[in-house]
Amino acid sequence: MKPTDEALAERRARVAKRWELTDEVVVLRAGEPSGWSGTDQHFAFLPHPDVAYLAAVGSPGTTLAYDAAAGEWELFGPRFTPERLVWEQPPTPVGRPLDELEEWLAQRSDRTLIELGAGAMMPDVLPAPAETNDESGSDGTAAEAGELAPGAAVLRLSAAVALERMTKDEAELDDIRRAATASTAGFEWVYANAAPGMTERDIQVGMEAQFYAAGAPRVAYDSIVASGSHGAYLHYVYAGDDPLRPATRTIEAGDLLLIDAGAQFGGYASDVTRTMVVGADPTDEQQFLWDLVLSAQQQTIDMCRPGAVWKEVHLAAARILGAGLVEMGLLRGDPTELVTEGAVALFFPHGLGHLLGLSVHDITSVPYSREPSDDPVLAKLGPNRVLERGMVTTVEPGIYFIDALLGDPARREKFAESVVWERADELRGFGGIRIEDDVLVTDGDPEVLTAAIAKPLRIG
Ligand code: GLY
Ligand code: MN
Repeated sequence: MKPTDEALAERRARVAKRWELTDEVVVLRAGEPSGWSGTDQHFAFLPHPDVAYLAAVGSPGTTLAYDAAAGEWELFGPRFTPERLVWEQPPTPVGRPLDELEEWLAQRSDRTLIELGAGAMMPDVLPAPAETNDESGSDGTAAEAGELAPGAAVLRLSAAVALERMTKDEAELDDIRRAATASTAGFEWVYANAAPGMTERDIQVGMEAQFYAAGAPRVAYDSIVASGSHGAYLHYVYAGDDPLRPATRTIEAGDLLLIDAGAQFGGYASDVTRTMVVGADPTDEQQFLWDLVLSAQQQTIDMCRPGAVWKEVHLAAARILGAGLVEMGLLRGDPTELVTEGAVALFFPHGLGHLLGLSVHDITSVPYSREPSDDPVLAKLGPNRVLERGMVTTVEPGIYFIDALLGDPARREKFAESVVWERADELRGFGGIRIEDDVLVTDGDPEVLTAAIAKPLRIG
């Protein structure tokens, strides 16, 4: 739902308060479509999320300006010439004509201009922003950040918008819920229609059609529909091999089918993963690992409460998965140590989840202070954020048998004792199992926004 004028004014007021500016001028641009080189075509356009958040409109060129001395916001929207209107429909007219921005800026040319959004020039060397919700706290101040490097003000102000975007208001939650409802229609179609003999592409097309039919203007990201061994590529997407002549795979009875897909609504993403066995009863290994991943997911969803430190939630999932892998005879040792030394990450090589919002991996463009880590998974977790009421995070544990990791001689040597390699090698080609939901942190129990999407193990 589009935010009311009052809700939009609230967002802007909170951001301006965090900015603590005196007489600067800030411009946030939605951006322009990117051209496809060698042609006169453009890629599909999406506005910079900070502009989508603060303006709730998103035609190319849309620009929001803020005069800190006056404490006033001004919205500028594109208008087309008659020549252009022969070919293209007019953008929804909002605010003042974009042509007037130049004059508006000229009237304030004695002030410091800070460009954010698509026009932002981030500094090459990034200091930690002054404010984070990082568990390690922040040692920077606004003044220090401003002195650290040219462009640090850009970082500080962008981080302030990011901090506001981190917790969702009612209008945002409504859009995420609508995105989830459209996703539900797509997954229900899969459960009713997927069968051996269909290709991954057949499933993708049928599922996405339901997203659109349910009102989604777009998918939130390229759908992952991966059968059999393909499930071990974390981001396996159609045409990822070759956009000219993409391959697809025909599903066989007994294959795992991992679908990671989500509709978008109002610019907001949903992000859902389900893994099923198609056309046959699960094998013992499929059943065990699916139960294990589901159990890790259920236990860590329950941890998504205000004050929880995200790294700890991730590590809890890794320990649960590690204990299961020991029980299954794939790993040997103490689960906590197996997590610490990196053996569990051979089978669970990604973070437990990410914030969700105007981008599927939300608020990743602004760097936060991080605890240094040699562990590739922990390093990728990004900010060691503390969960707050109103955040929406995915919770998506998984177990995979990835050739690039399991076949790597250096890893085989490093984990010679911890991994039962004969057992792991037997399972090469198994694919992967991931189960993912979108979780709203509340003052009470966590609310699973994608709970309506069933979790069948066997379909078809
Ligand atoms: N939906 C894919 C991911 O979260 O990476
Ligand atoms: Mn995800």
